[in-house]
Amino acid sequence: MKEQLHALQSEALGLIAGAGDIPALEGLRVRFLGKKGELTAILKQMGQLDPAERPVVGQLANAVSAEITEAIQVRREVLEAADLDQRLRAEQLDVTIPGAPQSMGKRHPMMKTLDETLDIFIGMGFTVAEGPEVEFAANVFDKLNTAEGHPSRDWQDTFYFDQGDKYVLRTHTSSVQIRVMERQKPPIRVVSPGRVYRKDEVDATHSPMFHQIEGLVVDKGITMADLKGTLNALVQELYGVGTKTRFRPHHFPFTEPSCEVDCQCFKCGGTGCSMCKGEGWIELLGAGMVHPNVFRNCGIDPNEYTGFAFGSGLERMTMMRFNISDLRLIFENDLRFLRQF
Ligand code: DAH
Repeated sequence: MKEQLHALQSEALGLIAGAGDIPALEGLRVRFLGKKGELTAILKQMGQLDPAERPVVGQLANAVSAEITEAIQVRREVLEAADLDQRLRAEQLDVTIPGAPQSMGKRHPMMKTLDETLDIFIGMGFTVAEGPEVEFAANVFDKLNTAEGHPSRDWQDTFYFDQGDKYVLRTHTSSVQIRVMERQKPPIRVVSPGRVYRKDEVDATHSPMFHQIEGLVVDKGITMADLKGTLNALVQELYGVGTKTRFRPHHFPFTEPSCEVDCQCFKCGGTGCSMCKGEGWIELLGAGMVHPNVFRNCGIDPNEYTGFAFGSGLERMTMMRFNISDLRLIFENDLRFLRQF
């Protein structure tokens, strides 16, 4: 029996020393020290021993049991320490590691131009007005002094809805002028950006959908000088101090007098290049003094109030602002293009 105990001891100690984890160690404890374990099995044979030998063997069995218990405890501590160590290493959080890079979107160049433009106008005391893209033809044409027969009303140029030409996709943002004046008494100072629609073929400078920003100022004593001062301020802010403007006589049904405003070519500085088609100037917007008929159509007395208005294409402003040569780039959403701004 002594040999059995010695053999058990050395086998147990060897296995315990090699136990790879806590469950394995627990298995060994049950196997050697459990109630149905190997040590108990040996002790059950004590009855066969010589009475004189029993205390000796009993002592040995106790010693073996204590050694195995001790070995298991030592091994457990080692395994637990390794386990903790490994968890600490696996779960450690290094707050100095830079975060995973997020690919951030960018503001579209046209929205940048719009933001800048709105900021400039808001700085001059304007507020922002809105109007619908599906608009009464009356607001787009009639009340803007654009009678039947005007070319812009032609089916060839305008998207009409079914109901007897009552509704159109607005062809310009000037319709918002009507909505504002019908609702608000002067003084009025508003800008209104938005989408407009025309039956145009897509090319480098045309699109059936594009954006405009409209402006309207109505008060007592507003003159062409206010128009020029305001638009000059816009151009200086947007395209740089010293950028020259040119006011050319033009015709719009809803303004009298009317003009088109050109900006000195930002690329060649006025000597003529491919950007300005040799002109030295680039057309920026249409403008004028609000026509008395438009005032009357909105219940404003033209003898008491005067005003100016303007309408500018946002795509064109953006193309000038960022030196973009083709309108289509603005709508194609090609990231190689958009990432440059
Ligand atoms: N609505 C005109 C267009 O789409 C632009 C315009 C011209 C707007 C003169 C105005 C204006 O407010 O006074 O071409």
